[in-house]
Amino acid sequence: MTKSCSSLSAEQIASFRRDGYLAIEAITSAKELAWMREVYDRLFAERAGRDEGNQFDLAGTDEEGVPASLPQILSPSKYAPELKETQYWTNTLAIGRQVLGASAKIDFDHAILKPAGYGAPTPWHQDEAYWDPGLEYQSFSMWMPLQEATRENGCMQFLPGSHRFEVVPHHPIGHDPRVHGLEVDEADTSTAVACPLQAGGATMHHHRTLHHASGNRSAGDRRAYILVVALPTRKRETPRVFPWVTQRHVGRAQQAKEGAGD
Ligand code: NI
Repeated sequence: MTKSCSSLSAEQIASFRRDGYLAIEAITSAKELAWMREVYDRLFAERAGRDEGNQFDLAGTDEEGVPASLPQILSPSKYAPELKETQYWTNTLAIGRQVLGASAKIDFDHAILKPAGYGAPTPWHQDEAYWDPGLEYQSFSMWMPLQEATRENGCMQFLPGSHRFEVVPHHPIGHDPRVHGLEVDEADTSTAVACPLQAGGATMHHHRTLHHASGNRSAGDRRAYILVVALPTRKRETPRVFPWVTQRHVGRAQQAKEGAGD
């Protein structure tokens, strides 16, 4: 494995600004990656965050007893703080400061597991579609698979230049308001680029870049650990409404209310 990267070249930064995504060959070591896989698998096995609503199925209705097709843990570093003491974390923050400026911070982390053989696709979406429409963002996500990422197990695919779009309309996956995951209403993705990665590599993408990952058709789990790097948010001068966010809140509130009866 090549030496892990803590800074980008001028060409890499130009490529990220032009396309809205970038593949990085190595952001951590093989040794750290092997250790992180153990931490990661333990968090999912122990159902870390489940009681606080921080572990749920991104692609399904998340009923107890039904295997999650796209289980996600929000803020895994809350349950395993040692994840913050990694080369991955340090290198991502250093790249964040280089790309966004000195006040960039790691704002949020999450883990998305695509189980071997049946892990669901992550539909095309922009990350900002999940967020508060009242705020202005400058951020990117670092997406690191904990093993190689291939077309068969669900590597990232990006639509080059889509980071220059506004946030386009989205809806919950399958138009089911109980599902947390979002999907773009429509997009021409004929120029999409798939980014397979060696273990230890990562991709970074702007918060408006349209991206997608296929289902996992391979014999091994596809683990991804994502760090969101951001500058402090500002209140937007022009308000906007994301109806799909409002609908999702209604869906989850209804779910809580229905759940409270039994
Ligand atoms: Ni995303």
